[in-house]
Amino acid sequence: MATKVYKNYIEGKWKASSSGETFDNVNPANTREVIGRFQKSNAEDVDDAIQAAANALPMWKKTPAPKRGEILFRVAEMLVKNKEFLAKDMTREMGKVLKETRGDVQEAIDMAYFTAGEGRRLLGETCPSELKDKFCMSVRMPVGVVSAITPWNFPIAIPSWKLIPALVAGNTVVIKPASDTPISVYHFVKLLEQAGLPPGVLNFVTGSGSGVGTPMVDHPKVNLVSFTGSTDTGGLIAQHCARQMKQYSLEMGGKNAIIVMDDAKLDLAVDGVIWGAFGTTGQRCTACSRVIVHKKVMNQFTDLLVKKTKALKLGDGLNEKIDVGPLINEEQRDKVHSYVKIGIEEGAQQLTGGSPATGKNLKNGYFYQPTIFTDVHPNMRIAQEEIFGPVVGLIPCNNLDEAIRIVNDSKYGLSSAIYTQDVNNTFRAIEGLDTGITYVNAPTIGAEIHLPFGGTKATGNGHREAGVAALEIFTEWKSVYIDYSGKLQKAQID
Ligand code: UN1
Repeated sequence: MATKVYKNYIEGKWKASSSGETFDNVNPANTREVIGRFQKSNAEDVDDAIQAAANALPMWKKTPAPKRGEILFRVAEMLVKNKEFLAKDMTREMGKVLKETRGDVQEAIDMAYFTAGEGRRLLGETCPSELKDKFCMSVRMPVGVVSAITPWNFPIAIPSWKLIPALVAGNTVVIKPASDTPISVYHFVKLLEQAGLPPGVLNFVTGSGSGVGTPMVDHPKVNLVSFTGSTDTGGLIAQHCARQMKQYSLEMGGKNAIIVMDDAKLDLAVDGVIWGAFGTTGQRCTACSRVIVHKKVMNQFTDLLVKKTKALKLGDGLNEKIDVGPLINEEQRDKVHSYVKIGIEEGAQQLTGGSPATGKNLKNGYFYQPTIFTDVHPNMRIAQEEIFGPVVGLIPCNNLDEAIRIVNDSKYGLSSAIYTQDVNNTFRAIEGLDTGITYVNAPTIGAEIHLPFGGTKATGNGHREAGVAALEIFTEWKSVYIDYSGKLQKAQID
């Protein structure tokens, strides 16, 4: 069967790139399977898409917000109906196991139901004036044309974090999916089209970071860039946007840690670390890659963790019996392996894993054995740099204060967790951990969409996605003063 060719979506039409070129989307669990062929777009295609978004902006801004919300409620319903189909195609292109890709789609469903409701809220403030016969309020306005650049690890969930709040607030959007996972975003855009989004309100352009991403950032008609991905790319986007006084929201790396105290329920902590470190093959911004373990329980915890890790089943995520899928591509597998070698050179002790997994049914995919290091020092590169793979390091500590210091000794600040039964430890950790998210007796992954999502330090630029907080990214405030006194009144003077 010939491989299907997918097109860009610009001004309500499915169009081939002017480049005439395409790229292949392959299955990371079996690289012989080409899932589809996508447009290798260029700056000309980006210009068309941004012009379309700019042209549609006045109409979409004028559309009553509850009507915009109704379209997004329909999208939620369509995502529910298509959940299984979307999850299967996502597993094929991204590799994570079916229960996780179902969760990814569910995250978009939750986001659509929750945020579509903003169509009937988009709350501002009313407040008293310091003068008589004068009324004050603030209202939210859309920012304008949004460029959304999304990663491959949450192929529908993260696009939903950007598209749904951007659209309900009256912005128009151009989205570029990661080149490893374009089919999920293609399906999502199709559903948004079928739900009734008018032409030009949402545009979809596939291609590389340099060919598509850079012009999406630099185009003068773009008002806001919303990006999730690496800290290096985020830094470049910030520089480009700053030069043009554009707004930008960045969601980047993490080096997330779990603290295991001496009073923790160790079985629970082990299950949490397995899920936090090896779920999604460690390819989450929120993945746990450091475990700070109280010395009193280190040996017992380590034995339990290694035993359960060795029992994890690797393979094609479409098989329901599989626990851990492949890494996304060869480059990522090489990167993970190079960090394992760095860990050994730095003097950490490898307890299990440590190489690509090449057993039966694994040889055509980018599989990597779940890897545990112990005797990790907090300053080692494997304890400081984001690996984005199934590698976790165990760091001993003597007490909670030391554990908190180790967790905070990181350039990132996304997610953290503590396992303890002690209420005082719990609250001291919540207060002391310098991260945007803290879990108690649960791993570092698993954020729910109605709370703010994001991190401190190099994880982001101060914004939070999801929840009502997302509106701070996708709207601008307008303060309105209505003077009904019929005379000139001077604030601060009269
Ligand atoms: C990410 O890794 O980029 O909290 C997002 C979680 C998921 C989202 C992760 N709900 O792990």
